[in-house]
Amino acid sequence: MLIGMGCDHGGFELKEKVKKHLEERGFEVKDFGVQTPDPIDYPDAAKPVCLAVSDGSVDCGILFCGTGIGISMAANKYKGIRAALCGDVYSAKMAKEHNNAQIICMGGRVIGQDLACMIADTWLDSEFQGGRHERRIAKIHEPENN
Ligand code: RB5
Repeated sequence: MLIGMGCDHGGFELKEKVKKHLEERGFEVKDFGVQTPDPIDYPDAAKPVCLAVSDGSVDCGILFCGTGIGISMAANKYKGIRAALCGDVYSAKMAKEHNNAQIICMGGRVIGQDLACMIADTWLDSEFQGGRHERRIAKIHEPENN
């Protein structure tokens, strides 16, 4: 399992923490940056991770900005991408089980580091349930073809 990670300056510290945690758990992480807390526009941080998820060069992605809002909005503009903003463990579980989100987003100025690690763990350890959720997910993407 290769996880792509990206962040802007508002998510930098949290990205570093979650990255370390997941590597300690044995996951392979491809870090698309940023590597410093210098300001960067969050759509630019979302782009390489979304493209890597789309072309299959990573299996999934985790994005961080100050709130998680801007970077999730940016990520969801990429065709086929389902990026879920998660601030709690239940949402992280549902983001995989029901929405099969390939990317989760978190806010470095909003949630604590231990919670962020639990959110990432829960999402990675959950399974998509398929069934009726397949139909609903297909409908999410219908507007992309119009
Ligand atoms: C950057 O200051 C901040 O706007 C950004 O990290 C994010 O919170 C946007 O949604």
